[in-house]
Amino acid sequence: MFFDFNLGVGGALLPLGVTPLTASSRVDLRVVPGKHELPEMPAVRERRARHSGRAGMVFMATALAGAALWLPAAAAGFDLPAARTTGPLPLEAALAQRQSRRSFASQPLTAAEAGQLLWSAQGENRAGGGRTAPSAGATYPLVLYLVAGRVEGLAAGVYRYAPQGHRLAAPAPGDARSAVAAAARGQAWVAEAPAIVVIAAEPSRTAARYGARAERYVAMEAGAAAQNLQLQAVALGLGATLVGAFDDAALRAALPLAAAEQPLAVLAVGRPR
Ligand SMILES: Cc1cc2nc3c(=O)[nH]c(=O)nc-3n(C[C@H](O)[C@H](O)[C@H](O)COP(=O)(O)O)c2cc1C
Repeated sequence: MFFDFNLGVGGALLPLGVTPLTASSRVDLRVVPGKHELPEMPAVRERRARHSGRAGMVFMATALAGAALWLPAAAAGFDLPAARTTGPLPLEAALAQRQSRRSFASQPLTAAEAGQLLWSAQGENRAGGGRTAPSAGATYPLVLYLVAGRVEGLAAGVYRYAPQGHRLAAPAPGDARSAVAAAARGQAWVAEAPAIVVIAAEPSRTAARYGARAERYVAMEAGAAAQNLQLQAVALGLGATLVGAFDDAALRAALPLAAAEQPLAVLAVGRPR
């Protein structure tokens, strides 16, 4: 008897970091007939066919229930590995080594590296919600997006970083790196980076307190976050470049930004080649 179910639940598993079994992100569940199967009487064959239909339905229902169990977790996002607060490279060495990198090896980033980069730029580093970068009046207008292309354990997609809980929200699926590179005035090397971090801001959070001066404050915060990330990249043996040349509308179209969020900076990150 032969069942051939091709169950497309890969999409539900990918955001959880479950590696699909096939390139097409589908899970093949296949039972191949035994080598020594004997010819069957028609009545037996009919009974087995009825049974196999029931078995198939039970099998399918079980698989769908399994997929349904995964779905809420996928919708809930991805918990990043805890950020490190120590490392082997002194800050002075990271400063001495920092330079813009625009050529990357093909190896992926790990989820821990991606998480560490996000944490360095905007993660929480103490009780009460204080962050690794300063914020005018602790208004925290910055919002970070991870454009994951080749990050182990993460499906290609655009993930919003949540400092609270150090986690990623469920992604907008699909590899957006080429669209980001095109938005960056066609700087093709940007698409070769395994990951891109976009710093956006919701300026109204700061403007509610500081009025017109908020524009300046928000720009200062983006610079501080970007520098943190570049130094963290060096400390991890990675390289990054801050990209400021981009078309706002095109970058906005490439990303799932909220209407109130403005893209401010793009950082392409990878292993320097
Ligand atoms: C605000 C800002 C915008 C930048 N935009 C780009 C950019 O769009 N593309 C790029 O390749 N480099 C960009 N850079 C990186 C600079 O070209 C780089 O920092 C400069 O050449 C000095 O080199 P270094 O970073 O290796 O010290 C930008 C840097 C800053 C500070």
